[in-house]
Amino acid sequence: MPAKPQTFHVKSFGCQMNVYDGERMAELMAAEGMIATDDAAAADLVVLNTCHIREKATEKVYSDIGRLRKTARGLGRAEPMIAVAGCVAQAEGEEIVARAKVDVVVGPQAYHNLPKLVSDAAAGTPALDTDMPPLSKFGRLPARRRVGPTAFLTVQEGCDKFCTYCVVPYTRGAEISRPFDAIVDEATALVDAGAREITLLGQNVNAWDEDGRGLHDLIVALDRIPGLARIRYTTSHPNDMRQGLIDAHRDVESLMPFLHLPVQAGSDRVLRAMNRSHTRDSYLRLLDTIRAARPDIALSGDFIVGFPGETDAEFEETLSLVDAVGYAQAFSFKYSPRPGTPAADLDGAVPAAVMDERLQRLQAALNRDQQAFNKASVGKSCDVLIERRGKLPGQMLGKSPWLQSVHLVGDHAIGDLVRVELIHAGPNSLSGREKTPVAA
Ligand code: 5AD
Ligand code: SF4
Repeated sequence: MPAKPQTFHVKSFGCQMNVYDGERMAELMAAEGMIATDDAAAADLVVLNTCHIREKATEKVYSDIGRLRKTARGLGRAEPMIAVAGCVAQAEGEEIVARAKVDVVVGPQAYHNLPKLVSDAAAGTPALDTDMPPLSKFGRLPARRRVGPTAFLTVQEGCDKFCTYCVVPYTRGAEISRPFDAIVDEATALVDAGAREITLLGQNVNAWDEDGRGLHDLIVALDRIPGLARIRYTTSHPNDMRQGLIDAHRDVESLMPFLHLPVQAGSDRVLRAMNRSHTRDSYLRLLDTIRAARPDIALSGDFIVGFPGETDAEFEETLSLVDAVGYAQAFSFKYSPRPGTPAADLDGAVPAAVMDERLQRLQAALNRDQQAFNKASVGKSCDVLIERRGKLPGQMLGKSPWLQSVHLVGDHAIGDLVRVELIHAGPNSLSGREKTPVAA
């Protein structure tokens, strides 16, 4: 039976919401008097906060569990207590206990119970909690204390869209919005704790809604918090992109000119088979409207190649959509069948070699566009929010409004907003030179 742990380490995989959840679990355990360590091999308790979105992500959990135990044995230490949290825990809880004999399994809607589950496991009681009482966890988490200059804040969870390839509606449950006041309170606490930028998170963040008020109303309220310089949000669905939110990109200065708006594929037949409920054309028209409101907006997206039945010609339509949009950055994935999703039962699996080739071609096009976007930024002036020190002496790293990494040399503190001119574009980052304010 594992002893009651004194030290813990949280490792988060997957999306930004998992990063947020991981931070909140760490705060819960710290509130119980446990001590955080960066070194997983030195921790009495390791929380693996897992992602279920693609098969590789799931397999990684099992190999991580094996590695953690092996390292402990190699060091002559007792094996750590292992808690599996996140979406794999939700989807495969019982299976993980059977296959990997972990001590604790806790789903994404139940992690406020983690300290109790850990005590139960230490006392020898099997500890599995994958209940899904929506939102109840938020009321039971400790207050935010210290955060870096950029912070995540979950405002919405779950998904009702049921894209046919996706596990999220099953692991995170139905769409649900946190209350307006709770969000404003948490944002204020984050700013008091050091945040200068807040990224609002949700699987369908732009579906946030309270009595007819939409995400833009929330953004306007957060814009009024003194000390909060930047607001971002992710991930959005094209069908929830309301006019108020588009207008906010024009009217709210602290709302950054960046939009992650996944389209997944460029062919209407594939979009239909994915149950995306938008077309290629409606997506492109939406982007026109958004660009009319905020011409310099940087666009980002997600793509899946090799969805069952995707033909060469249909894949070419994804490439031509990419050409038409000119993304500032994007993520692309090979289709991975997920058990329990409708697409997993479809015929027409695309051969692995074809999938590889499509992914390579798509990524080449996306890299080309990312570099073009970065090159086109050279000569522009903007604020950079300093996030950390660089490797070179005096070097600082931060982000532009368009979410590009920018390095610069100067005497600045983490959290400073520095006015720079962008002077050089590399493949993944830019360099900036501080602009000296002109004396009045
Ligand atoms: N296979 C491949 N990619 C997927 N995504 C979601 N489900 C799958 C799947 N089964 C991708 C989508 C989504 C992103 C978070 O992950 O592009 O937008
Ligand atoms: Fe998954 Fe589609 Fe919902 Fe996004 S919108 S979480 S891809 S089901």
